[in-house]
Amino acid sequence: MIGEALAWLATPCPFYVRRLGLLTESIAISARHRRCRAAWAPHLAATRQVILDAIARTPRRRTALVMGSGALLDVPLEELADAFERVLLVDLVHPWTARLKTRHLPQVMHVTDDVTGTLEAVARGELVRPRPFPLLADPEVDLAVSLNLLSQIPVVPVRRLDGRIDDARLAAAAQNLVKSHLADFDRSRAATLLVSDVERVVTDRNGQEIERASLIADLAEPRADREWWWDIAPAPEIDSNSSERRRVVARFVPGAFGGESL
Ligand SMILES: C[S@@+](CC[C@H](N)C(=O)[O-])C[C@H]1O[C@@H](n2cnc3c(N)ncnc32)[C@H](O)[C@@H]1O
Repeated sequence: MIGEALAWLATPCPFYVRRLGLLTESIAISARHRRCRAAWAPHLAATRQVILDAIARTPRRRTALVMGSGALLDVPLEELADAFERVLLVDLVHPWTARLKTRHLPQVMHVTDDVTGTLEAVARGELVRPRPFPLLADPEVDLAVSLNLLSQIPVVPVRRLDGRIDDARLAAAAQNLVKSHLADFDRSRAATLLVSDVERVVTDRNGQEIERASLIADLAEPRADREWWWDIAPAPEIDSNSSERRRVVARFVPGAFGGESL
């Protein structure tokens, strides 16, 4: 508890990020990882492996962009830093543990930014259209990774704007945010790797399903090359009678490299 309070005070991040509860959530994710380390291990290993495979399939290696880098639990940091001239880690919160891990790697930079460009307005209670994420259009970026981020994008806007705008507009806004991140990827000339949890399933203590819900605003799932389950909250993490698992999908798309640049 004291460690978490210190982390809240010591982690630099913009005021609107604190206001929206994203710093608190980042600290909670790391705390949950410490409690559920064994259950999370296969998911983290699978995520690292798809990133390693994506590196191997990306022939030109100037800049790698990793969006949703957070605590770097699922990032093969050393391998990315060895492979690329520059690695940009994008998140709204870079915990001090992540900053420590990259201290000896001058080619790795932390970028504090909102991939949707909407959250400062959301913090004021306003709904605005998502804009394309500028770094994804940087011609130096050869590999772009979205890391268990897609499902998180609508969470805070929906929570903050619930009750301020009508339900139909809120549902449409959540879908627009998810679509906009996917459209950013579709437009990119870099190789792209999308890793996202897309569905949650809650089971009772006998393993019987009691709830199933989309994590991507009820949109059709992106086409996937691989999928696996993330035991995100095995009992008694939420309560002693239920466990939550998430289905994660991964899709790699090669970049539109010109022959002259290979
Ligand atoms: C499930 S976590 C990803 C886990 C992370 N890779 C790790 O190893 O800790 C999702 C991350 O997305 C970030 N995030 C959520 N919405 C974002 C946004 N609009 N722009 C940038 N980052 C965002 C959160 O701060 C969080 O660190």
